[in-house]
Amino acid sequence: MSKTFVTKAKQMLHGGDYNPDQWLDYPEILADDIKLMKLSHTNTFSVGIFAWSTLEPEEGVYHFEWLDKIIDDIHGIGGNVILATPSGARPAWMSQKYPEVLRVNASRVKQLHGARHNHCFTSPVYREKTQQMNRLLAERYGNHPALIMWHISNEYGGACHCDLCQDAFRTWLKEKYNHNLKALNDAWWGPFWSHTFTDWSQIESPSPIGESKVHGHNLDWRRFVTDQTIDFYKNEIVPIRELTPDIPITTNFMGDTPDLIPFQGLDYSKFAKHIDVISWDAYPAWHNDWETTADLAMKVAFIDDLYRSLKGQPFLLMESTPSLVNWHKVNKAKRPGMHLLSSMQMVAHGSDSILYFQWRKSRGSSEKFHGAVVDHDNSSENRVFKDVAEVGRTLEKLSEVAGTNRSAEVAFLYDWDNHWALQDAQGFSNETKRYAQTMHQHYRAFWENDIPVDVITKEHDFSSYKLLVVPMLYLASEDLISRFKDFVKNGGTLVMTYISGLVNESDLTYLGGWPHELQEIFGMKPLETDTLYPADRNRVSYNGKSYELKDYATTLDVAEAKVEATYEEDYYANTPAVTSHTYGAGKTYYIGGRLEDDFQRDFYEGVMKELEIHPVADVKHERGVSVQVRQAPECDYIFVMNFTEDEQHVHFESQVTDVITGETLHGDVTFEKYEVRVVEKSK
Ligand code: GAL
Repeated sequence: MSKTFVTKAKQMLHGGDYNPDQWLDYPEILADDIKLMKLSHTNTFSVGIFAWSTLEPEEGVYHFEWLDKIIDDIHGIGGNVILATPSGARPAWMSQKYPEVLRVNASRVKQLHGARHNHCFTSPVYREKTQQMNRLLAERYGNHPALIMWHISNEYGGACHCDLCQDAFRTWLKEKYNHNLKALNDAWWGPFWSHTFTDWSQIESPSPIGESKVHGHNLDWRRFVTDQTIDFYKNEIVPIRELTPDIPITTNFMGDTPDLIPFQGLDYSKFAKHIDVISWDAYPAWHNDWETTADLAMKVAFIDDLYRSLKGQPFLLMESTPSLVNWHKVNKAKRPGMHLLSSMQMVAHGSDSILYFQWRKSRGSSEKFHGAVVDHDNSSENRVFKDVAEVGRTLEKLSEVAGTNRSAEVAFLYDWDNHWALQDAQGFSNETKRYAQTMHQHYRAFWENDIPVDVITKEHDFSSYKLLVVPMLYLASEDLISRFKDFVKNGGTLVMTYISGLVNESDLTYLGGWPHELQEIFGMKPLETDTLYPADRNRVSYNGKSYELKDYATTLDVAEAKVEATYEEDYYANTPAVTSHTYGAGKTYYIGGRLEDDFQRDFYEGVMKELEIHPVADVKHERGVSVQVRQAPECDYIFVMNFTEDEQHVHFESQVTDVITGETLHGDVTFEKYEVRVVEKSK
């Protein structure tokens, strides 16, 4: 695997969001910042994210001198700057003078000035103002040697429902449906509840005080919101691409909490095509009271694998906390060891950075108690600062890892359209669809066994993988189904589950039963999906063992498939629950019900044996330890991470070198609670 550096820095980036604009009246604090940056072994700072009211305090009056000094000072200590465009929040004068920049919510209420991330993404005024500001930033700092990357806006998300946006939505629809209103009515199943439109002007965005039950409409609106956000972003980057074509661009993606699933507001698979480097903001609730540390680590790993796979290259951790946040239900500090462990996990999955929100704790407003590298005590002696410096020293030893990637034989397919449509579907259980969590249930079997996984989206070519796992793909276009068929015909192994292949890309059900191509490759067809109450249970027998089932059980009409497992109870007792079928040079498996983790563990162990898919390194350990790899041309960097509260005995079958301590390791090694080691194995 060759190296693709995501920035011109060619090193692991360490640092984070720096808001000197909050401290311009405190020159001694700004001077301390520079000293503390060196002491904390940090090297990269994202500046200007929310600085618009300082950069342009009055319309057309600009103040850049403070930013000149900050960037020069960071450069003076050999640091890098990630320069942000400030569109995430705007000055009050702008909202006052041009109210069209304010967002209108889904209930058609115009929002007041305040907060952030709440502009209208269609407003010509806001587009003009952001472009103007970005041009000035690019002209002034484009050639600054400290500038390594652009950070466009901040955490794009949400939607606006103003008249300008309604017009833009209608224009988008006209384009999509070739100006053919009948085609739109057909795709949206118009006559249902008399919802046929006779003029484009009758169409509005979905609303709690209006239309929300037309699923094709909801889906198209969500797609429009993604496209309109990208369009806004593309407008932002015009001067940046023009003036600084060699400086890469990112915008920070998110995860949804509390269950840490991929962010649902935007289809990042579309957004990824327009940015150079993926970056994301990760805020897992470590040490919470509803899941084990290993479970949470597995969820973080899943998003990392998804976001890395969006561009198939290393990504950046743009924000994280060195200690705690201020917006979880309970904001618990990272226990000793967790900061290094959780940081190394990001690097293990492909991050070339550990960046924080925030460098210095703000003095006032809502983030004054949010974790930061520098606390109100301004000290380099507290626990958090020391933890950060330790991560910094470790990253300095891992500079060779920057730019390396890894390959995988297993892919999971994750789809935003599917998530939206499945959530909308009024049916099954409205509470337990749990698409992303179902992905987790299957992914866990690979994570626990140290099998590298790519989490790809539907545009991705999947022909090179041995195994493609596609849980709960309720929405699947005919084209995608044909691609599944080719994949299997050419030797791939495909796993699908209950509630799959039921609707097309407009969220219209397939008529005449399950799509024929799926019936052909699976050698069976699903008949009924039984939805269970939360306390209901059934069981499934597989390979002489019995496994618990909850939530969903699909009965199957088996034609040529082999029955791998059967239901044990209820009116479908002894009927097929899991099947396999050989098709062309490949094979398919269908899992009819939501089964306990042990089933996935045993089932995938068999599949991996059959396909000769092996753990990424010859390191043996108990459950709760994770091993991930980054591959350089001459060696593998193996990350061994103890995500348990217990001491663990890890067995290295081959001799490796600890990159941090320089020790040679072979045989049994004891790992303390939360201990992590990065070892190098020559090829
Ligand atoms: C992020 C945001 C940051 C900061 C952080 C706090 O979502 O981008 O500006 O607010 O959360 O955790």
